[in-house]
Amino acid sequence: MEPQFRLFPEQASVEAQRVDVLYLFQLGVGVFFTALICLVIFYFAIKYRRGAKVDRSNPPKKNIPLEVVWTVIPLALTMVMFGWGARLFFDSQRPPLGADEIYVVGKQWMWKVQHPEGKSEINELHIPVGRPVKLKLISEDVIHSFYVPEFRVKTDVLPGRYSTIWLNPTKTGRFHLFCAEYCGTDHSKMIGHVYVMEPAEYSKWLAGTIDQPPHVAGELLFERFRCNTCHRDTPDARCPSLRGLFGRQVALADGSNVIADEKYLRESIVNPNSKIVQGYKPLMPTYQGQLNEQGILQIIAYIQSLEQTQEPPAPAATEDRQPPTETND
Ligand code: CUA
Repeated sequence: MEPQFRLFPEQASVEAQRVDVLYLFQLGVGVFFTALICLVIFYFAIKYRRGAKVDRSNPPKKNIPLEVVWTVIPLALTMVMFGWGARLFFDSQRPPLGADEIYVVGKQWMWKVQHPEGKSEINELHIPVGRPVKLKLISEDVIHSFYVPEFRVKTDVLPGRYSTIWLNPTKTGRFHLFCAEYCGTDHSKMIGHVYVMEPAEYSKWLAGTIDQPPHVAGELLFERFRCNTCHRDTPDARCPSLRGLFGRQVALADGSNVIADEKYLRESIVNPNSKIVQGYKPLMPTYQGQLNEQGILQIIAYIQSLEQTQEPPAPAATEDRQPPTETND
């Protein structure tokens, strides 16, 4: 800990600077109007004190220009705050393409982290400086919240739903990681550290990997739970092929379509009968309670890694698209 007093936590990410500028703007507007109102109160309190010889006749009932001014100025200021804040929020929800994806599972009372290369850690997160990383978070039990003040990054970590955040650290060092949502007896101990390292140092740290990458672990789970007996790539398979599925549009038995993203895949694992693929029967048992959230993330990573061997069937409704740069016809 540094001994000096800090009004704000250190800024250690690109987002931190952007969030602070907005925060200081709002603080400035708030302080300005509070001071203005206080001054006016004092001025009138003194001017109209008892015994003062001033004009006490009734004020005019109507003053349209004044009404317009005190409506339009606050409206404009709040719209600026809204637009600015919304922009920061949307940016925080959209990770840049190609950012490393790290899985974070919250559970009472620890953070379990897995890197795409396979390395796992608990209550620690190691990331390289100057490179955006994307975190995919989910809870094993109750609602937690992932909070790193120095990055100005905070998101609720919910059971049954993936949250995504991304960050771009600008400083190396060790930063506090908190759970910012009361989650039971040891909530206050659900803390850890984020270590931001030089890229070379980070590669060296990763090289100590002994765990399997998530998609490899996912493939083993896929075999262990015998998913492969049904989800085969043969024409007589009773279940849909998973090859090239991720990100594709899937036609459902009720006539609707769904994009096969992580939310859909997770739902199909824990609650398989909620969406039935067109042409298939509701045969799949639920794996809720048999797989933990890390296992589900790993199976999704495996499905994500299954590339299409031939052209996928054309989606039901296609819009005019840009011609692709190269065609595989
Ligand atoms: Cu987890 Cu508080």
